[in-house]
Amino acid sequence: MTALLEVDQVETAYGSSQVLFGITFDIREGEVATLLGRNGMGKTTTVRSLLGLTRARGGTVRFRGERIEALSVDRIARMGLAVVPEGRQIFPNLSVQENLLAFSANRNASGEPWTLERVYHLFPRLAERSRNMGNQLSGGEQQMLAIGRALMTNPHLLILDEATEGLAPLVREEIWRCLALLRQHGQAILVIDKYVQRLIQLADRHTIIERGRVVWHGTSGQLKADPGLWDRYVGV
Ligand SMILES: Nc1ncnc2c1ncn2[C@@H]1O[C@H](COP(=O)(O)OP(=O)(O)OP(=O)(O)O)[C@@H](O)[C@H]1O
Ligand SMILES: [Mg+2]
Repeated sequence: MTALLEVDQVETAYGSSQVLFGITFDIREGEVATLLGRNGMGKTTTVRSLLGLTRARGGTVRFRGERIEALSVDRIARMGLAVVPEGRQIFPNLSVQENLLAFSANRNASGEPWTLERVYHLFPRLAERSRNMGNQLSGGEQQMLAIGRALMTNPHLLILDEATEGLAPLVREEIWRCLALLRQHGQAILVIDKYVQRLIQLADRHTIIERGRVVWHGTSGQLKADPGLWDRYVGV
């Protein structure tokens, strides 16, 4: 089976401070994968390196068979890599509907693309708030909007960086429910989060990062069978 994303020996630094020391993992079509690790271990930096936001100094990234590590942020996005960033970053002065429409594109050439109606169906709360400005939304609503906006690009791969961070438990459950639904639809997803139990239910494979290095790869079954791993590397 060919990989959708192949990350091979990626090294990334901020100025003279090296943060990633050879990150390697892959994601297959239709797969849900995770990056796990404690705070500051390099998860967000890995995502930034994939998206071209912080350029990798070494290693290669292949997306749908094409090398992307030297491409522009824009070009990579247009190839169908979409992110729900840490901190959401929705437009505060645009309405919910405008936020969604601003991102509309059919990058994976889906025969059944995401539309306003489908996003509103997925998150009825957004339909109710469609005319509200981004800055009038609760944290949970902002997160739903950030996910809806990423879906509106019809990405080949959806990346969520701490999508449930700071949310109330009920809203968090709604996000997990949504991700499970996307998975059923065959959407490939890379999830970064700290709720290992939920991730074991949702995802196929996991990569644990410790100080910029991959220390473990495995399936949900393997991760479930070894809670010692969570204590050691994820801290839950
Ligand atoms: N813009 C930056 N400039 C310099 N150092 C940075 C920058 N962003 C992150 N770092 C450092 O890089 C390391 C990895 O950070 P990163 O944000 O990738 O970790 P993370 O695994 O996403 O952590 P968290 O769980 O807190 O989000 C940390 O030591 C962090 O302090
Ligand atoms: Mg992070």
